[in-house]
Amino acid sequence: MVYETDSDVPVTFPVIDISLLSSEDELQKLRSILSSCGCFQATGHGISVECLDKMREVAQQFFALPVEEKQKYSRSPNEAYGYGDDLVVSDNQVETCCYRLLLRVFPEDQRRMNLWPENPADFGKTLHEYALKIRSVMNDLSKAMARSLELEENSFLNQFGDQPVLETRINFYPPCSRAEVLGVKPHLDRSTITILLQDKEVEGLQVLTDGEWHTVPVIPHALVINLGGLMQVMTNGMFKSPLHRVLTNGNKLRMSVAMLDEPEAEKEIGPLDQLVHHSSPRLYRSVRNFAAFNYECFQKGKNSLEELKI
Ligand code: SIN
Ligand code: FE2
Repeated sequence: MVYETDSDVPVTFPVIDISLLSSEDELQKLRSILSSCGCFQATGHGISVECLDKMREVAQQFFALPVEEKQKYSRSPNEAYGYGDDLVVSDNQVETCCYRLLLRVFPEDQRRMNLWPENPADFGKTLHEYALKIRSVMNDLSKAMARSLELEENSFLNQFGDQPVLETRINFYPPCSRAEVLGVKPHLDRSTITILLQDKEVEGLQVLTDGEWHTVPVIPHALVINLGGLMQVMTNGMFKSPLHRVLTNGNKLRMSVAMLDEPEAEKEIGPLDQLVHHSSPRLYRSVRNFAAFNYECFQKGKNSLEELKI
């Protein structure tokens, strides 16, 4: 099978200048995009070009190290954190090719420093500074999303407890001339909000909207905002978490840096009371550790949100 964008008609992928989200019109635009495709590119996020490029640079430097050097940070079997390739899941026989480094960044006392690269020397400092900025953009977005639904602005943030989690997944896709190989198989994110720094030049991410795969174009210093399954649960289905996948590229390597939030461990998350009415009955049951549940469903080829339906 050769993976392509389904439609030859170029689609305009939504872009929002998030510095304008204090305006009612922009909030309505945000609400409408999140209720339909659940994904957009954010400009006006306030993170400097230098900071974005520095994050890309240290990630690239790490992946360019000799294999033996990278393997010092390898994840152990049955462990998610660290460096490695994706688990091979044989259910539907789709082959993937992606090396990734998965790290917990916040809370700081939950970092596993033995998995944080010491080479390049400024990797840790750069990731820490980048994550602080991303966390602030994420919190602002979460507040704007709540306001767009006429909720108190901390409604989503309050669900997460005092020690919310922020993780990074840095992806590296080597060139792959076999068009039947994917970078990442179709999946839903485990987060509420994922903020993705795409490669500056090479496309690959596709989002399923209206039953068709659409390539997310490269806008070098924009951030891709992708809703995770937990946001669909919390909004009782009002906002959508898109299924997405990554294609490989025959000639060029591609890199991306994803930051994903999660509630603190053991927090039970369900639809917000304010979004459950007689005209919109509760759609999902509450869930603890959605990340693990989502992964389990993914492994079995099931859709976690379908599985949570009442
Ligand atoms: C992902 O969100 O699963 C990966 C995104 C990417 O590499 O573009
Ligand atoms: Fe993803």
